[in-house]
Amino acid sequence: MAQPPIPLEPRNDPYQQALRNTSQIILKRLLHFESLPSTNAYLKDRGALGEREGLIILADTQTAGIGRLTRPWHSPVGGLYFSILLRPMTIKASDAPLITLTAGLAVAMVLQSALGLKPSLKWPNDVLIANKKVAGILTEATLIGDDIEYIVAGIGINANMALIDFPQPLQTTATTLQECLQHRIELPRLFSYLIGQLEFWYIRLRDQGFKAISPHYRPLCTTLGKHVVIELGDGQLKGLAKDIEPDGSLVLETGSGRQLIRTGDVISARHTGEDK
Ligand code: BTN
Repeated sequence: MAQPPIPLEPRNDPYQQALRNTSQIILKRLLHFESLPSTNAYLKDRGALGEREGLIILADTQTAGIGRLTRPWHSPVGGLYFSILLRPMTIKASDAPLITLTAGLAVAMVLQSALGLKPSLKWPNDVLIANKKVAGILTEATLIGDDIEYIVAGIGINANMALIDFPQPLQTTATTLQECLQHRIELPRLFSYLIGQLEFWYIRLRDQGFKAISPHYRPLCTTLGKHVVIELGDGQLKGLAKDIEPDGSLVLETGSGRQLIRTGDVISARHTGEDK
């Protein structure tokens, strides 16, 4: 029988050391693994067993990392991969997608303030630099009726790796922090900044709702004001991305009227005539 994975010894682990006093809520305990199939999958199992809010699972590499819409997430050593377990009492099940937007904002804020980059956000969850994807967020909610039982928010950042090591199709659409900065970064420090920002924005969302996030998310969101094509899983929809609703849905003006998109993937976007 396969042995369960064993986390690294916390003493002398640079990730554990970088974390002193960064968080009271989202990070009460960190388990750091050399390798896991997927940090989201691991944490969902712990959530189902009743684990409390505040456990973070981090892995140096994932052998079966999961992206949105069940795509694989390429996870070689050099990236930052972690998942957070949340039990947000004040957030309705229908508002669970707001966690994705909020986490995207937190990642963008860190890339901007700690690394001096100019990130943008592609609704709902992609963090881009110069229009190429550098990070993604996968939020998986387990519901009981209209309530959230628990949420696993997984974050993957392409950090210390060369683009040449990525599978061919990703080489044109993805980027890495190392490519953007032309140097490697200290992952435990990046992680510590991220935890601070994630906690800050999560508390705002939890206590004040999306109105406290939206004024910061919108200016970074490059989807708004563009003609977009959205992949819905069972088809595509074209329209002008007008706004983001209080529940995180994208408001799309289509040939047949206004539509609200709760989940989907923006596969192409171009400026409107007025923007040019
Ligand atoms: C996406 O943009 O498609 C979402 C990517 C999310 C990847 C992260 S890496 C850590 C966590 N574990 C996973 O298996 N997926 C998420």
